[in-house]
Order: sequence, then C-alpha cells, then structure tokens
Amino acid sequence: MDGPAASGTPGTSSAPGAPGAGDRAVGILGRQRARESSARTYARSFPIVPVRAKGMTVEGADGRRYLDCLSGAGTLALGHNHPVVLEAVRRTMESGAPLHVLDLATPEKDDFTDALFATLPGEFADRARIHFCGPAGTDAVEAALKLTRTATGRRGVLAFTGAYHGMTAGALAVTGRVSARERVAEGVAEVTRLPYPYPYRCPFGVGGERGTALAATYAERLLDDPAGGVAPPAAMILEAVQGEGGAVPAPDSWLREMRRITAERDIPLIVDEVQTGVGRTGAFWAVEHSGITPDVMVMSKAIGGSLPLAVIVYDQDYDAWLPGAHTGTFRGNTLAMATGAATLRYVAREGLAERAATVGARMTARLDGLRHALPVIGDVRGRGLMIGVELVDPAGPVDSCGARPAAPELAQRVRAACLERGLIIELGGRFDATLRLLPPLTISDEQAETVLDRLADAIAHASADRHQDKQGRQA
Ligand SMILES: Cc1ncc(COP(=O)(O)O)c(C=O)c1O
Repeated sequence: MDGPAASGTPGTSSAPGAPGAGDRAVGILGRQRARESSARTYARSFPIVPVRAKGMTVEGADGRRYLDCLSGAGTLALGHNHPVVLEAVRRTMESGAPLHVLDLATPEKDDFTDALFATLPGEFADRARIHFCGPAGTDAVEAALKLTRTATGRRGVLAFTGAYHGMTAGALAVTGRVSARERVAEGVAEVTRLPYPYPYRCPFGVGGERGTALAATYAERLLDDPAGGVAPPAAMILEAVQGEGGAVPAPDSWLREMRRITAERDIPLIVDEVQTGVGRTGAFWAVEHSGITPDVMVMSKAIGGSLPLAVIVYDQDYDAWLPGAHTGTFRGNTLAMATGAATLRYVAREGLAERAATVGARMTARLDGLRHALPVIGDVRGRGLMIGVELVDPAGPVDSCGARPAAPELAQRVRAACLERGLIIELGGRFDATLRLLPPLTISDEQAETVLDRLADAIAHASADRHQDKQGRQA
C-alpha cells in the first residue's frame, strides 16, 4: 500500500537528498524557530521538514524517510496523499465548484452529509441533525457545549480526568490537563470533574473492574447528592478512548453506565469522536463497541480526509438554536467535503475499521510481549490502531495497582531514538510518559512489523543509555 515517495519536489531547487538539501532543511528549521511563537508544538519534537509524503511514508527535505505513526494526530485515516483523496481534490477542482461558500447548500455538502449519515449507528442517524462548524475539532466541541446549554437552559458540564477536547476556551475548560488550563480556562465554564476509568493508574487506587464500577458509582451518587455541590448540568462530555490522555480505552460497561446515568437524569451525553472516529478504534465510531447512542457526537480530524472539517451531529430534540447561533466564515470548505466523503466511503467499503481491529490487536499483543524483556514498559493498552505504551521507572516503587512511577524523560529519549530510526511517534498521557501509536488504517502487515522492530530497538537503546547516564552521574 505504501510505496516510495514520488520524485520531484515542487517549488524547490534542491531535491531531497541532493547536495545542499540538508542545508536547506537546516535553514528552514532555523527560520521557523526564530519566527514562530513559543507555543510551537510538534515542530519542537520533530525537527524535520517534510516535503513529500505517500501512505505511511514521509520524506524530509534532507532525503530522510520516516514511517509516520502520528498521522496528523489521528487525522490521516488513509495515510498521506491517498489516491482516493487526491482524485477527489482533482475532480472538485476541475469541476469549477466554488472552494469557499460560507454555509450555502452545495452538491459537495449534500454528498458529504449522505456519506457521513450512512456511517452512523441506525437509531442515531434516523434522528440526526448536522451542524458544520469552524474547521477544527475544538470549534465543534464549543458548538456541542453551546447547543446543550441552549437546549437545557443549564450551565454546568460534567467532564473527566485525563480528557482532551481542544484549545479554545470552553473546550479547554473541559480538558483535564492542568498545565494547559491554568490561567486561561478558569471561570469559562462550570465544570465538574469526574474520574475516568484508567485501570493502570486507577483514580481510586484499586484498578480492574472494581475501579471501573467505583467510577460509575461515584458519578451517580455525586449527581444525586443534594449537598454534592453539582447543579443539574447541561451535558456530560467524554471520549470513548482518551487519545491525548494516553490511549486509555473506557470499558464498554462503564460507557453504558454513563449512558444510563445521564439518560435517567435528562443530561445530554456528548461523545467526542474527534480522534476515535472513522475506523480508528476498530469500529467506524467508537460508540459502536458499547452500543450506546449519544445525544451529540463531535467529529473532526479524519472526516475531512486530510483537509480541515468539523461537525456536530445530534439528536433532533436538541435542535434549539436560533439562526446564526454558531456561525463562522469557514464552515463551507468544498474541497474538504469532497475529500471527506471519499474517505468515509473508502473506509466503509474496504472494511478498514475491521482491519484496524485486527492489526491493532496484533501490534498490541506483540508490544505486551516485550514487557518481560523491557521492564520500562509499564502498561500496553488501546483499541484498534489507537495504541499506548506507558513507560515507567522499573526501579521505582509499585503503587496499590501495581504501577511504577511514570518515566517522562525516558519517553522523550525514546521519541528521539524512534526518529533516528525513521519512525515518528508522539507522547501523551499523564506526565507525557505514554508512547502513542496512531498509524494510518491502511498500514500493511510488513509496515506494522517494521514499526514494532524500530520501536522495540529505540526503547531498548534509550533505556540502556538512560541507565548508563544515571550510573555516570552516581559515580
Ligand atoms: C478528542 C479530541 N477532541 C478535540 C480535539 C481538538 O481538535 P483540534 O485540534 O482540531 O481543535 C482533539 C485533538 O486532538 C481531540 O483529540
């Protein structure tokens, strides 16, 4: 599926790998570093200048090639520049369709809506309304929060530890990461933080099914406690698998409990499928594993087929907005609707969700098997092709759930060692100590093996280097 990158670099004089290409890359990196804000993110961890990409392979300006297990933070379900996506771009451009249309009705929007609704669980699709948002997941989260507040006339929101919902004010307020929220999100929304089941670092210190059951009991009892400090909320927002939170899958039983608890109390349930959607977890939508029907689904990333697109889809009973209640200039990206529709149909037609389940299970099992040889691997988890490997200090004390202290510095070393070996992986989770793998759903068996070979080698070398450095400091 993944071939060599095509030759020829548009708009450049020095082709990748050619004499001077390395200097050119260094120049670009230096200028960007000097001129971009200090909030630069991925560019810090991955000092590469991608100039071409195909499938899972990214080629840097210096001619080096990488297997991309970040996939645009889970956006590229089909990898880079998939023929289906390129064909949709070409067809739309050649048709003369307007590329920017505000939110006017277009054949592309009509077709995208058809394609998207065809993927939804039946009982949800039958009653669904769609709203096209500004083209980022975070704007769709804002829309979901606003919609449920308008519809219920309530203000507070229930959100979870470890959650990530985006960087705009409301989305940040429901995000868990304290360092991102400090000084900017406080007071924006009345958020009640509930414990998300996370067996390895169980919020109740017990882990397993008992920890999961306690998380549900705590939520229910808190809501029913007249002195619990929680007014009836406008919504509960959750991820079925926490992505940025470290690839932590919620047990299906807990999701069903959250659905029951919210339904019994007329609290709309918002499921944020921005990262989990479009086959990533081994089902087209992550809610399908548990069979729950949410009231609102938040979607972005892969639904645009590489281009920016974000929507909320919700039960018609909540359609309480006045015209213009969540408007915005860039809500009609014709190209993204065309590439999105093509991607959704391709993923469904080719059974890529099932493929993600199979390959993901195999990769997770092989990673789990490395734990004995590599005791820095504390936990391996995930669902489908959303995989997390939590690194720990094997010499640290064991807590009541059997977990050792997180090893964020080692995780950074492993990320860098992966890059040296031609593999792009990102970190996430508590203390940024979890290696996260989000390969495209089109990953071949051979590529999956290569990813794991490089990753295992990087972990082994980075932990040996760290051990040596530690001993050197102690000597
Ligand atoms: C679950 C979830 N929600 C929302 C967002 C925010 O999306 P965006 O970065 O497009 O604003 C993300 C981004 O990673 C996400 O993973």
